[in-house]
Amino acid sequence: MAMSEAAMVPLDGGELSNPRGLALSRSLKVNPADNVTGYKSFEMGKFKFRRDEYFVHIDTPKTTYAMSADAFLRALMRDVAWGFFYGTVNFDPVFGTTNYYGEVDMFLGALNEAYTRAGREHVERFKADELMPMFKEMVSDWTNEGFDPFAAPQETGTPWGEKNGDNDAAVSRERVTARRMVGLEGDTPLRTDGNGYPVNRMFLDVEQDQPEVHTEPGFEGEVAAYNLFGYLSRSDVTWNPSVCSVVKDSLFCPTTEEYILPVEHGNDRCEWFIQLSDEIIWNIKDGETGRPRAVVRMKAGDVACMPADVRHQGFSPKRSMLLVWENGSPKIPELIRQGLAPNVAVQF
Ligand code: PHB
Ligand code: FE
Repeated sequence: MAMSEAAMVPLDGGELSNPRGLALSRSLKVNPADNVTGYKSFEMGKFKFRRDEYFVHIDTPKTTYAMSADAFLRALMRDVAWGFFYGTVNFDPVFGTTNYYGEVDMFLGALNEAYTRAGREHVERFKADELMPMFKEMVSDWTNEGFDPFAAPQETGTPWGEKNGDNDAAVSRERVTARRMVGLEGDTPLRTDGNGYPVNRMFLDVEQDQPEVHTEPGFEGEVAAYNLFGYLSRSDVTWNPSVCSVVKDSLFCPTTEEYILPVEHGNDRCEWFIQLSDEIIWNIKDGETGRPRAVVRMKAGDVACMPADVRHQGFSPKRSMLLVWENGSPKIPELIRQGLAPNVAVQF
């Protein structure tokens, strides 16, 4: 979710956590566009990335790997927009990044039991502000005109084929991160037809009225309310939680979901899900090994807490509304690693 400013600073202002004890890698190389496909290729540390008409190819010293360009770009878009997010962003069961808030591990196979058993995993550590520019250039160069990696598949064109224009307007979208709450004076504005956010085709039945707020004199600008369902019905993106209210470390990050969450998110803390409408099916796997652990089918009104040691990926058959509730404290991941905070938020 939105990395709150606090979440981006090193723990206690001190050393960055580095559980694998990796030295820093660098050396970015951007190779010119391929004569045939028109796409640039990229090298970072010992990772090599290229795309062709259908696939993204990733080479490491120990193995070679391919992903659908569609799935790769949707995942890359989230990793870029979320600033490497909380914990691990698995693009799929093999490739991904783990955020240490200032530095990032990029891995192939390191969180996949079959790869680690065979000794085929590869992981390197980068400064976040050195890896991010490469990811941004990659998502810009590899996204063709008409394809929006944030959109539901039924609401966008396809990513396939030789390089054909770009969609920089879509891939550089700023994510909503309210400072206090959507709709407060000077904070993130409400969405309206007028500012470019029409109601989505699947939420035409959502009421659009707004609460009336009558503020006591002296509290002007301090009291606000808005129709969250109306706000979400006008989201133009999927699987992109935005920070809509902030109370200290408590971040309410609602989002609208359709089709598949493009990443398997490996938490570094617990997070709560409140299903606000319709239904999402979550595949839950072990965070370290990728072994399947549970399937959770959430219907409107259901509440679940994802433990801190899993990865999870949601499937939303119809556009739905989900509230993701995060604790943005930068101290939590290290407390969990040291066994000082539990993996579960509640025990019954
Ligand atoms: C999550 O990883 O918890 C997550 C990410 C994106 C969403 C919903 C949930 O849209
Ligand atoms: Fe998550």
